[in-house]
Amino acid sequence: MNKNIHDVVVIDAVRTAFGRAGEKGIFWNTRAEDLSVAVLKALMARNPKVKPADIEDVIWGATNQIKEQGGTIGRMISMLADWGWEIPGCSVDRMCAGGLTATGFGVSYIASGMADCLIAGGVEHMGHLPMGFMRDNHPRFEEVMGDASAFNMGMTAENIHDRFPEFTKEMADAYAAACQKKASLAIQSGKMKNMIIPIDVEMADGTRLTADKDQHPRPETTIETLAGLKTPFREQGGRVSAGNASGLNDGAAAVLLMSASKAKALGIAPSMRWVSTGIAGVDPRIMGTAPVPATLKALAKAGLSMKDIDIIEVNEAFAVQALYDLDRLGLKADDPRVNIWGGAIAYGHPLASSGPRLIAFMAGLFKENPKARYGLTTMCVGRGQGYSMIWENMN
Ligand SMILES: CC(C)(COP(=O)(O)OP(=O)(O)OC[C@H]1O[C@@H](n2cnc3c(N)ncnc32)[C@H](O)[C@@H]1OP(=O)(O)O)[C@@H](O)C(=O)NCCC(=O)NCCS
Repeated sequence: MNKNIHDVVVIDAVRTAFGRAGEKGIFWNTRAEDLSVAVLKALMARNPKVKPADIEDVIWGATNQIKEQGGTIGRMISMLADWGWEIPGCSVDRMCAGGLTATGFGVSYIASGMADCLIAGGVEHMGHLPMGFMRDNHPRFEEVMGDASAFNMGMTAENIHDRFPEFTKEMADAYAAACQKKASLAIQSGKMKNMIIPIDVEMADGTRLTADKDQHPRPETTIETLAGLKTPFREQGGRVSAGNASGLNDGAAAVLLMSASKAKALGIAPSMRWVSTGIAGVDPRIMGTAPVPATLKALAKAGLSMKDIDIIEVNEAFAVQALYDLDRLGLKADDPRVNIWGGAIAYGHPLASSGPRLIAFMAGLFKENPKARYGLTTMCVGRGQGYSMIWENMN
């Protein structure tokens, strides 16, 4: 590593519960800014040695930066948190990896000495702002992305099945059922409690609720029920269903980042240290394959191989994408290091909040496994990108 850069550490990572998008969702009457403010405030409440005045920037991922997620939501939420006008904020977009990119930007601020303490995170209210909402495509979009299928994430997953037929629907369904099982075990044994920030909400029917549990997991899932689901992205001969895909969800997540020296000065024990980042581009029609080159880049920069990685958090946009990525990284689909508490097929995938969600999982898993040294968080991104970060356990 370049000796001139500063060590960057994660102090804490939190998230809201993930709701289902739509009127039946727990956050139907809650705005994206309020989900975001809840996680910002929670980071201060949980880390009393850090004050809002220490926060040198709030870097916020959001995919659809219009309406409530527009107008530089990263800046709005620092004011809505009642932290005063002095705490700056900005917004970034790399679709699904918006929050991971926010974290990556935060890491680079701190590594370069531009800041010592900041919050990175992301939000997506897919109920209020559905994917592609109000987007105005350039007339050349099909030409530059290969074809129109690149524009529909479910179709990109069908494309992976087409191009790599060794990954079958049966394998995707088995992967999804196993994911639901892992998530169910993790939820039952209380693994989500420390990271989910409860929020009081009003449901569409006017009843009030403390939203402190994920709404998307379906613990009753079996391979048999998955086999019978419709394949909405290709009616005849499709393989991608609601059961082996991530869902449409609302949620926010955030990470408190610091220089190691600032953490030491404040007397705070960090959770993990940033090691390396890899970002890659691929054919947008098979965007789900991009975590492979992104991870290989991150590993090369760190001088590590997959054998060195003890905990792997791969965002499951689609089961077939996770199957492809794991296989090409030399891992079995049921490798015990992978998505130990389950993944986005169970919890859901509120786009730009999913990266910080992976980091919250990593922090929890590192704490439980002090002997685990390195962890990988990796995501695929619409339009053909992958974003991987490697972390070192400090527990
Ligand atoms: C796949 C998708 C279109 C499904 O949306 P949806 O139809 O609103 O999904 P639902 O949750 O209503 O599920 C559809 C049906 O499958 C059933 N189902 C879903 N998951 C199930 C499971 N695990 N076990 C059994 N049944 C299940 C539902 O009960 C529902 O049945 P019904 O029609 O009889 O009510 C949507 O989730 C999607 O687009 N996912 C991908 C999101 C995405 O692209 N993200 C970006 C990634 S890069």
